[in-house]
Amino acid sequence: RIFPVLLSGGAGTRLWPLSRSLYPKQLLPLAGEETMLQATALRVPGDPAYAAPLAICNNDHRFIIAEQLRAIGREPLAIMLEPVGRNTAPAAAAAALWCLARNPEAVIALLPADHVIRDVEGFRRLLARAVEMADAGHIVTFGIRPTEPHTGYGYIRQGQAIADGVFHVDRFTEKPDAATATGYLADGGYSWNSGMFVARADTLVEEMRRFRPDIVQAVERSLDGAKRDLDFLRLDEAAFAACPAQSIDFAVMEKTEHAAVMPCDIGWSDIGSWTALWDIAEKDANGNAVQGDVILRDVSNSYIRTEKTVVAAIGVSDLTIVETSDAVLVARRDRTQEVKEVVEMLKADG
Ligand code: GDD
Ligand code: MG
Repeated sequence: RIFPVLLSGGAGTRLWPLSRSLYPKQLLPLAGEETMLQATALRVPGDPAYAAPLAICNNDHRFIIAEQLRAIGREPLAIMLEPVGRNTAPAAAAAALWCLARNPEAVIALLPADHVIRDVEGFRRLLARAVEMADAGHIVTFGIRPTEPHTGYGYIRQGQAIADGVFHVDRFTEKPDAATATGYLADGGYSWNSGMFVARADTLVEEMRRFRPDIVQAVERSLDGAKRDLDFLRLDEAAFAACPAQSIDFAVMEKTEHAAVMPCDIGWSDIGSWTALWDIAEKDANGNAVQGDVILRDVSNSYIRTEKTVVAAIGVSDLTIVETSDAVLVARRDRTQEVKEVVEMLKADG
């Protein structure tokens, strides 16, 4: 009755040159043995209360995703294929409607497939509690203690307690500007939104219908015209392409009155950049995180990763160096966000 939904539509351009549109970050083993998608699927308890995962992704990634889930023994209920990305609100709506059709009591756990969570046991306890709260009609978010005025996250202002460790969301602000985020941090009453959501499918559909009936209608049409092909559920292309693009954060979370937040400390990290990866990596005594054939002399606080070539670095600090067979990135560690712009330039050059 609890349906884990693996959201795997992102491109992860900030992890270029490793992450590519055909092999985005969630399909790479960036923080351990398993790929991020596999780690996300395995994080869900193997308990019979949880259904097998429903993955939702771009058509281009279907075989890789099917293969990666099969390899860990988590055969999906289905892999829903989007002909084009329309951001997370349509994906969430499609997942919720599909689960609702299978079970009117369905609770869905929307899980981005590109997060690291160190404390898996802690996550599982939290998830079980979130399901209880979802049954009571809440759309549950997980609150992360903010450490900087990051503008790439949603900010949640915690309100009145609903139950032990669970609070009303007073206000949800998706990706505020830097000044606003700095104010929130100073205020102290805010958490970052982790990007995972747990709700009854009917609650979610109802709220979406209230705020974005156009999205729900387009998604319903794309499900009506969907074609099943083995594990794949191919959403109708024209109907889905006609769906407006918006994130669930803007479409629902900023507007709903049913949001609840569970503040938590589960070693969560959104691997949004090479710097974020360095932050969570195991480092040597000089603060270097290294992968592959690397020779260092007098190097500190750097992230160095190579696939095939030997990389030697001498007398440098605070660098990110990533080698792949067809591209090399060298960047100051505090400027890896700008990789996104390099990718834009590469795309423009064709
Ligand atoms: N299927 C599908 N289709 N999945 C998608 C699509 C899509 O069109 N777009 C994004 N996703 C997946 C991504 O792969 C990722 O796993 C998840 O949905 C969230 O999308 P992001 O694009 O990574 O969102 P974000 O990081 O900018 O913001 C969200 O996450 C933050 C925490 O990491 C928001 O929920 C923020 O509020 C939150 O703080
Ligand atoms: Mg993200």
